[in-house]
Amino acid sequence: MALSPAPRPVILDGDPGHDDAVNILLAHAAPELEVLGVSTTYGNVGLERTTRNALVTLELIGARTPVYAGADRPLLAARLSAESVHGQTGLDGPLLPSPAREAQELHAALFIIQEVRARPHQVTLLPTGPLTNLALALRLAPDIAPLIKQIVWMGGSLDVGNWTPAAEFNALCDPHAAQIVFSSGVPLVMFGLNATHQAIATPQRIAAIRALSGRQGGSDVGEVVAGLLEFFAEHHRVRYGWDGGPLHDPLTCAYLLAPELFVTQPMYAEVDTSGGPSSGRTNCDLWNLTGNVPNAEVALQVDADGFYELLTERLGRF
Ligand code: RIB
Ligand code: CA
Repeated sequence: MALSPAPRPVILDGDPGHDDAVNILLAHAAPELEVLGVSTTYGNVGLERTTRNALVTLELIGARTPVYAGADRPLLAARLSAESVHGQTGLDGPLLPSPAREAQELHAALFIIQEVRARPHQVTLLPTGPLTNLALALRLAPDIAPLIKQIVWMGGSLDVGNWTPAAEFNALCDPHAAQIVFSSGVPLVMFGLNATHQAIATPQRIAAIRALSGRQGGSDVGEVVAGLLEFFAEHHRVRYGWDGGPLHDPLTCAYLLAPELFVTQPMYAEVDTSGGPSSGRTNCDLWNLTGNVPNAEVALQVDADGFYELLTERLGRF
């Protein structure tokens, strides 16, 4: 009998955040992965709340995965936040119990360095927020760049932004950190808005997730995720007129589990750090106009039905 491959070690780095929370859940419903830790950053809301939200999300499924708090502000830029999207707590919607656990003492950047050095060429980083923690790790320990297996980031955009006309929120939060990652030489997959906006959590898809809790012996996870997605939909219904919110962040984990659901293209990409009206824009050289060597696989197409089928089946495992 063929032995299953060893689980792929991953670190989830994010700013929970409704979609970051769903990414945490999906990663913990994946025996293909070994979640070494969840590291948190400022972003959607402040660091204290994103860290609490990570602990709350793990508590929902009884996971003991360690949480490491990281940066509470960008390297240079002024801190942004997105309470207008995620609510004051950063995880508004269903009432969730306070976490019993606390974050570890170790800073997220030091945790990333520790784990990459301990498992050379094995660790995949799944950042779903601003890239400040990864940039700090790379600057504190340049030796880890060739030792990171892959970075799969939700951020940027091949085309328009969602926080300014030019820039997506995660990239805009810390353009300097993003450019440090983009120029690090680490194999990078970028899930930008051009891809994530193809994965809308419609009422039909939410209903299928909620139905998980209605099954005999079903856990609360389906109901909680449905409540989170219904709250998350409101901002997008008003701003974009869409019938739901785009589930940005879990596409990173889904990419590891089912890469066949996605089409990516290698291209050169860089982040505008000018501080001008296009600051934070991820300039992706789709037509190779610069002649620069590609430094990223940029996601172009998403099989949204396939993604929601995967997500719903996995959430049903709790
Ligand atoms: O622009 C969308 C991204 O910004 C998502 O990761 C969301 O959680 C916020 O971090
Ligand atoms: Ca996020």
